[in-house]
Amino acid sequence: MYDFFRRHRLLLAPMAGVSDMAFRTLCREQGADLTYTEMVSAKGLSYANEKTRHLLDLAQGEDMVAVQLFGHEPDTMASQAAWIEQVMGENLAYIDINMGCPARKIVTKGDGSALMRDSDLAASIVAAVSRAVEHPVTVKFRRGWAMGCETAPEFAVRMQDAGAAAVAVHGRYAEQLYRGCADWGVVARVKQAVDVPVVGNGDVKCGADAVAITRETGCDAVMIARAAEGNPWIFSQAAAALAGSPEPCAPTVEQRIAMARRHARLLAQREGRNIVRMRKHAMWYMTGLPGAAAARGKINACVGVDDFDAVFDELLEIAGSHA
Ligand SMILES: Cc1cc2nc3c(=O)[nH]c(=O)nc-3n(C[C@H](O)[C@H](O)[C@H](O)COP(=O)(O)O)c2cc1C
Repeated sequence: MYDFFRRHRLLLAPMAGVSDMAFRTLCREQGADLTYTEMVSAKGLSYANEKTRHLLDLAQGEDMVAVQLFGHEPDTMASQAAWIEQVMGENLAYIDINMGCPARKIVTKGDGSALMRDSDLAASIVAAVSRAVEHPVTVKFRRGWAMGCETAPEFAVRMQDAGAAAVAVHGRYAEQLYRGCADWGVVARVKQAVDVPVVGNGDVKCGADAVAITRETGCDAVMIARAAEGNPWIFSQAAAALAGSPEPCAPTVEQRIAMARRHARLLAQREGRNIVRMRKHAMWYMTGLPGAAAARGKINACVGVDDFDAVFDELLEIAGSHA
């Protein structure tokens, strides 16, 4: 996959509850080369659960999407990966397996980062899924499970030997959740340990960070999660920085509000009149704007596009009076 990642260097990370088709569309428009779906339960898909299946919906013309599966049963993972490949065809970039999620409700079932504690099972999942699909299979995991016990380099080798075509590493331990800083050193150590491409992830917050993680670790692609929330422009900034071009200016208040309005409309196209899911995105777009703190309560009462528009109008007015 080296050739693939030479052409797709900037990836929007999988984010449950965040990286739906509306958000993915906006990030692609701003320069993300590839996006991931929210993590999708293999078990849920196997029960034909409607909500789970909807996580695979693509926007009109959307391609270059990696589907992230979670689960711990090799056969279920393999059969659902094959089904996804059939349904998504050319729009599917690859199947990724989640071995990094530290959330309690996930790890107590043996999914997500719990698999870092059972590399035999993790390897059988990768082998089974790789046998079942023609697309590449990748794995996303963390520095290790227990604080201070870095297992990612050996784990990466196991995943590679089991058939992973690339690996993505988030430089925190599972026990750390999102606390502290991501360690990019582990990305470098994984890169030294394996022959397959390595995606670096964790605390990439601006274009300069994308350059720094690439230089410091030798990673083949950069994955961005939280810094993209309310800020799809991070991808144009990172793309410019990686190309050695001057970074585009930070978005103006008007551009931020315009992006938020577009986001709401894209969500409404999919979800109809109730887009409460937009509330958190709206908060992120508004961060730091004059009047944002006072608008929070109003955002929390918004349901449809018109409700959000009314709050955005007020914010624009306040910004105008501050100009
Ligand atoms: C709200 C949220 C949801 C996430 N959901 C997933 C997920 O579904 N699958 C996954 O592998 N990682 C998930 N992550 C982890 C991110 O993909 C990423 O590894 C982590 O946030 C570190 O990157 P960052 O510092 O750029 O945010 C999630 C993170 C956040 C903040």
